[in-house]
Amino acid sequence: MEQLTEIRVRTKIPESEMEQKVGKILAESDYNVRLTGPARVMLPDGKPLLIYLPRYLNGERFEQAYDVLHPIKMSGNRGLASGAPGFTVGGRRRYKSVNSAIIGNVDPLGNTPYCRTTAWTGDHAEEFSSLFPLFMDVDRAFAEYVPDRYLAQKKRANATLPEWMVGDTVFTTMTVNNTYPTGVHKDAGDLDEGFSCLTTWRRGNYSGGHLTFPEWRVSVDLKDGDLILMDAHHWHGNTALNLMSEDAERISLVLYYRTKVADCASAEEEAHKEVMAKKRSMGETRPTSAVWNGSTTALGKIPSMDIDAMNESVSTSD
Ligand SMILES: [Fe+2]
Repeated sequence: MEQLTEIRVRTKIPESEMEQKVGKILAESDYNVRLTGPARVMLPDGKPLLIYLPRYLNGERFEQAYDVLHPIKMSGNRGLASGAPGFTVGGRRRYKSVNSAIIGNVDPLGNTPYCRTTAWTGDHAEEFSSLFPLFMDVDRAFAEYVPDRYLAQKKRANATLPEWMVGDTVFTTMTVNNTYPTGVHKDAGDLDEGFSCLTTWRRGNYSGGHLTFPEWRVSVDLKDGDLILMDAHHWHGNTALNLMSEDAERISLVLYYRTKVADCASAEEEAHKEVMAKKRSMGETRPTSAVWNGSTTALGKIPSMDIDAMNESVSTSD
């Protein structure tokens, strides 16, 4: 196990100041501690905020994963075609909808009131499973460095139908962001007592994109293969990304457990729900209020938490 420098933060910025940063891209002035070596940052209550493990992931399987993850941004061309609003990163136009994708499995959300494997995952089953050894490396780091959170998540994973877990890990779902700085947010829909794991691939030349916890004024400039284990229920976001070469690219992969996946029925039953939902949306049957075993995600009744989770599908982490 790597020797970690343990840091305990004692103060957070005033709530009023924090509120003004929500949703915004951060600046260098939003932190005054930048981690440059292996570290564990503890909160005043003794709970971990993050564990930073530089260059934890490397070698062939890490390099190969880039080849799988890199083209994912191309799969969302609808965003460009539909003229989705873009934004500018370092003078270049980027399109929000093509830069973030969910892979793995998700619980019922919005107009998909059934558990499912995401579209990319279904269409690229072989490439997805080629990532499992890398996911196992992340799983191992999580178990080693944050054992109590890992055990809590493992317990949930063990109580979840295996078809909704990704390989032999404690993760159900991954978010892939490509060259996409996120505004300040807290993750929604993932396990409270668990932890999120995040790694990055860097290509070309860019600066910024520092993963920052503005409330505690702590930041990390993630390098290729760095792994951060973090409590994503604390405010976090990126500083602005400045692309300085044509091939500049920052891919981040976030691995987590989606809490409501624990309630998913068998793949067969969920597929049946999907067929029924599609039929209903085509007007073949009339909507009823007591569908999906009383789940609150019946059409037209989306709890606000799920709206947050849906937003996560285009704006999750870093
Ligand atoms: Fe996040």
